[in-house]
Amino acid sequence: MKNAKIAGIGYYVPEKIVTNNDLTKVMDTSDEWIQERTGIKERRYAEKHKESTSTLGVKAAEIAIERAGITAADVDFIIFATLSPDYYFPGCAVLLQRQMGIQGIGALDIRNQCSGFVYGLSIADQFVKTGMYKNVLLVGSEVHSFGLDFSTKGRNVTVIFGDGAGAVVLQPTDDKKSGILSTHLHADGDYAEKLAYLNPGCHGGVHLGTEEFGYPDQEFGGAYLTEKMWQDEQYYPNMEGQAVFKMAVQKFPEVIMEALQTNGLETKDVDMLIPHQANLRISQFVQKRLGLRDDQVWNNIQKYGNTTAASIPIALCEAWEAGKVKDGDLVCMAAFGSGFTWGSALIRW
Ligand code: UT7
Repeated sequence: MKNAKIAGIGYYVPEKIVTNNDLTKVMDTSDEWIQERTGIKERRYAEKHKESTSTLGVKAAEIAIERAGITAADVDFIIFATLSPDYYFPGCAVLLQRQMGIQGIGALDIRNQCSGFVYGLSIADQFVKTGMYKNVLLVGSEVHSFGLDFSTKGRNVTVIFGDGAGAVVLQPTDDKKSGILSTHLHADGDYAEKLAYLNPGCHGGVHLGTEEFGYPDQEFGGAYLTEKMWQDEQYYPNMEGQAVFKMAVQKFPEVIMEALQTNGLETKDVDMLIPHQANLRISQFVQKRLGLRDDQVWNNIQKYGNTTAASIPIALCEAWEAGKVKDGDLVCMAAFGSGFTWGSALIRW
């Protein structure tokens, strides 16, 4: 079996910058609160009627493909990770495929939220290792801004999230010491509603196991969004921030250590940790817990907010463009988020 390596990487963020002060014009929040609790200074928002999750993904993919030294026609499989798809169905992978003119090859959508890129990387790794595909395009892309609650009620969620896309091309390598060394995936569905977008959905009012999950009297068997849900504004994401925070600071270090120990390595061996950009305070906690120096961790949430499935490839690409990820470097990626899902990947660049 061969190893899989990242042969090309790219990212794209929309031009429109939205600062914390811009948000204070529509909701009761402050630059001070947002920076102190999350580290975020600004984020990017896609342009309505012009951009979408799949179009951002295409832009990032085009850069990754060019840098991999191939053309779109050489891509033999697509994996698209997002929680903000253009359509309820079909997923974004086929929409990206159509825009890139590479119809016919397999196109897979995955729904693992903040862990989507790491999950996608693991899937791509298996396909490349076994020789099934030679140029797998993996995209993480999000447009959160079209679906957030910009009233004060939604401020705890809305101030955190931003739009953007990142992409990589995975290719086989004969060098068994480089490329993806291992990936580690986890989930715990007990926490499914702690960070969730419940409606529209097809739950039909069924009780899915948590106290707070509502609408047991709903009469519609396969309804997507009922009138009552509409009245209750149940079409926005909801998050129990502190529950997410608490679990994140536990699972990030755990899954990073799992990756290192699997490969007989230690934290001092890590050249660059690319954490999912959930909250600067979470990343700082993880850094401290693992005893990592500032130059061993890449943070860019200050500029982009939390871009969910796109945050790791955007951060990785920025670090690589800045010359902070070089041949032979040990790069660790780690993610935690809705599901709860979490995971890590270790790469020898
Ligand atoms: O990828 C995974 C995605 N999610 C995360 O990683 C989220 C993890 N959690 C967090 O990042 C934090 O929990 C938040 C940043 C979301 C919230 O910070 P917190 O320190 O946990 O604040 P809190 O929810 O306990 O709220 C404290 C106060 C509340 O007011 P009262 O009840 O004390 O009067 C909130 O209503 O802050 C208020 N608040 C805000 N105030 C100004 C909540 N959001 C805002 C806001 N602006 N945007």
